[in-house]
Amino acid sequence: MFNPFKMFFPKKMVGVDIGASSVKVVEISRWGGGKTLENYGEIKSDSFYKESSDGKKTNSEPLSNDFISKAIRGILDESQIKTKSVIFSIPDSSTFCTSFEIPFMTEKEIPEAIYYNASQYITLPISEVTLDWKIIPNPPGEKKAAMKVFLVAVPNRIVQEYKAMAAIAGLKLHAIEAEALGVTRALIKTSQKTVCLIDIGVQSSTINIIYKGFLKSSYSFNFNSGQLSRIVSSALGVDLKEAENIKNKEGLMHPRQDVVKTLYMLLDPLLIEIESVCSEFLYREQKQIEEIYLTGGTANLPGLKEYFAESLKKNVYVPNCFSEFLYPPILEDTLRQMAPSFSAAVGVALGGLEA
Ligand SMILES: Nc1ncnc2c1ncn2[C@@H]1O[C@H](COP(=O)(O)OP(=O)(O)OP(=O)(O)O)[C@@H](O)[C@H]1O
Ligand SMILES: [Mg+2]
Repeated sequence: MFNPFKMFFPKKMVGVDIGASSVKVVEISRWGGGKTLENYGEIKSDSFYKESSDGKKTNSEPLSNDFISKAIRGILDESQIKTKSVIFSIPDSSTFCTSFEIPFMTEKEIPEAIYYNASQYITLPISEVTLDWKIIPNPPGEKKAAMKVFLVAVPNRIVQEYKAMAAIAGLKLHAIEAEALGVTRALIKTSQKTVCLIDIGVQSSTINIIYKGFLKSSYSFNFNSGQLSRIVSSALGVDLKEAENIKNKEGLMHPRQDVVKTLYMLLDPLLIEIESVCSEFLYREQKQIEEIYLTGGTANLPGLKEYFAESLKKNVYVPNCFSEFLYPPILEDTLRQMAPSFSAAVGVALGGLEA
């Protein structure tokens, strides 16, 4: 039914991304064709950990969901976010993504065909997972060709955990969504180019291939950016906190060549993974990757974009997930800095505002 109020009252949504280094929360709204960043907040994980008896912070113990929920509540209160509807981004390590084809069929027939096919790809029993999928549209001339499906499976146990976390944080769970789908929505604005989008995480990283605006494949592996600070710390003999500051400020432009060389050595396995995913895509689909996008906080590492561009011989960008939002101009620089860390939270929230 046509609801005139929808045109005047913006619809709002909260997006939450529980990352290894911090929890990010955004509140966004949509009105007509525009989007507004209403509020945002972040709490670093190391501030969660209690100091142990020797005064050092320890992060060997995983945080309880109860604790994370309370942290989310804290961010909501501090940022004065009143919206209750929330979408959580599910880390790629907790989801299983695959793609396959099904014969052309009507919309009604699709779910059964997907459930039937899914059991061939997913190691867990189908009764123990929740499935989410996207159908990649066929080109106009091939409307009745086989349908390409991008499938995400999340163990039911994880879905339950997120439901419980939302409840403790005083939120209403609107949906959960795989991080890879979230970052794709947040960052891919054009469907013209074939893009390789790399989300560099603190614990693991994901290489996504986006073709004509749709996520075609998503591959996670254990490149962790936490090692970059550790190597700077041991090379310079400074503590981890200081090493992290130096790494973030100087990165690959650090005056000491030995430091830069060790950073290159740590980054090279990531480049090898990217090259192999891109050539596998070329082999399978006969499509060259045209552009490389980097996201995740480490995308801001000074000199990284240039190093990747030179090594991969492609244009490399660090897209800004806030670029199409309205926000107070004074936040411009802050948001540009924060953007790579917030892609997942922004992307999943945007999904909740789509018509
Ligand atoms: N300017 C910078 N240069 C390099 N690294 C940076 C910079 N700013 C932040 N980082 C790094 O980004 C990382 C945090 O990124 P992000 O917030 O995307 O991680 P996360 O979402 O918590 O991790 P994960 O996705 O693995 O759960 C930290 O390791 C931090 O050191
Ligand atoms: Mg992350």
